[in-house]
Amino acid sequence: MFGKRGTPDAGTPQQAPPPANQPPPQVPGADGLGTAPPPGGTPPASPPQGVPAQEPGQPVAQPSAPPPPPVAQAPSSAAALDHARSEEYYDVKTTVFNALIDTIDLTQLARLDAEAAREEIRDIVSEIVAIKNVVMSIAEQEELLEDICNDVLGYGPLEPLLARDDIADIMVNGADTTYIEVDGMIEQAAVRFADNSQLMNICQRIVSQVGRRVDESSPICDARLPDGSRVNVIAPPLALDGPTLTIRKFKRDRLTLDQLVKFNSISDTGRTLLSIIGRVRCNTVISGGTGSGKTTLLNCLTAHIGEEERIITCEDSAELQLQQPHVVRLETRPPNLEGEGEVTMRDLVKNCLRMRPDRIIVGEVRGPEAFDLLQAMNTGHDGSMGTLHSNSPRECLSRLESMILMGGYNLPSRTIREMIVASIDIIIQASRMRDGSRKITHITEVMGLEGDVITLQDIFIHELLGEDEQGKMIGRHRSTGIARPRFWDRARYYNEESRLAEALATAEVSDESGRPLGENLG
Ligand SMILES: Nc1ncnc2c1ncn2[C@@H]1O[C@H](COP(=O)(O)OP(=O)(O)OP(=O)(O)O)[C@@H](O)[C@H]1O
Ligand SMILES: [Mg+2]
Repeated sequence: MFGKRGTPDAGTPQQAPPPANQPPPQVPGADGLGTAPPPGGTPPASPPQGVPAQEPGQPVAQPSAPPPPPVAQAPSSAAALDHARSEEYYDVKTTVFNALIDTIDLTQLARLDAEAAREEIRDIVSEIVAIKNVVMSIAEQEELLEDICNDVLGYGPLEPLLARDDIADIMVNGADTTYIEVDGMIEQAAVRFADNSQLMNICQRIVSQVGRRVDESSPICDARLPDGSRVNVIAPPLALDGPTLTIRKFKRDRLTLDQLVKFNSISDTGRTLLSIIGRVRCNTVISGGTGSGKTTLLNCLTAHIGEEERIITCEDSAELQLQQPHVVRLETRPPNLEGEGEVTMRDLVKNCLRMRPDRIIVGEVRGPEAFDLLQAMNTGHDGSMGTLHSNSPRECLSRLESMILMGGYNLPSRTIREMIVASIDIIIQASRMRDGSRKITHITEVMGLEGDVITLQDIFIHELLGEDEQGKMIGRHRSTGIARPRFWDRARYYNEESRLAEALATAEVSDESGRPLGENLG
């Protein structure tokens, strides 16, 4: 035990580096309740305590930046807190929390690993509860302990949500309202923060771990949690109802194509088609709406890339989990406060070309880098892939075209379309359905240009047939009767043509007269 009972400055913790691989302890402000929010409830414009301001002209540090020192913090309204929890609980918690902070030496605590620090806090809190004669059951005491540990060592009320692997997204809309996405459906979580100032401190804590900061003067920030979860923060004054935090939880056990089959996102033969597309180096764009499963699908496709290939990935926030031995991972960088040091997706993709890639994988194509990716696809980097936000394969093409135009290229539409046709082989469309399930709805080939129009050919589709009593969508995947897709020769080159022919034939569905159903639904 290294408590510092009796020391006169017990409530004034020293700054110390936090233990490795864990957020630094948070300490309360002078009143023991954290930094008072400035008038209007908005976060302070200056960097929070201990967060170093960027040197003018210095690019913002990347993940290797030193971990942030403790951030002033109120005791949170705690883990798995539900709104029904009594005010009495908060009073007890505040009392115990304040006594803990007076007792414990945070400098020393910061040197312990997470487990040892928890043990230390556990011992002291048990002692405080006994000394103060707080009446509590063992279960209540355990809960309080968990709460306090989360506040001191972790991300406060977010901790229990972060620990759950069934949550896809955590969406905090100000201190009082948090939503989560479970099984494809959004629901409100029984979690709240003490106030917007505590929430802002937690946001700050998250983003400062990757060397960034968020406050009134730079209210938008992307970051990543140590476990790989993707984080976005938008703060007041831009977010009108308090700091808004969105976390795409990183799945420890990444989904595989086999699991997608189990979830009915794709059929067995559809899986075979996707694995062939990945292996035979088709240039592929995965299209889909927000949270439709694009990145997951991209991950699955990359599983079929050969071990001998050199793959370079470019992402805004590294999410891909490639299993191959030879992977170079690149991440973009936002500008620093002086507006300098930005490295865009375009810069990364252009640089890739000088790195002797076999394949280039762009996490999400959202701007002028579309041009560079198409060029890469067109110049010997077959099998390159990317995802793109759009609702259908056709829309995917027009989005690509407008992204290229956004880059300031003064090219006629026809030239851009010719370039698209020459570069992209396959568009895979992902969708999140009304019932929360995710489906691969189209595997579509880019065929060519007819006049000024790009022709597409669906080779495999998902067809909606109805809905059951529970509101679950009923449908089936089937091929469209195309026996020789455009990438047939490519498949043959890789000795995959018989597997391809078999998968397409097996996925056929015939009408009453025995003719295979075509591209048109129904
Ligand atoms: N086929 C699936 N079945 C069930 N869950 C899935 C499926 N595909 C993806 N998910 C889950 O859905 C969530 C969103 O997936 P993903 O990150 O791949 O979507 P996205 O389209 O890339 O989202 P964004 O547009 O935000 O980048 C993740 O938690 C992922 O595990
Ligand atoms: Mg994504």
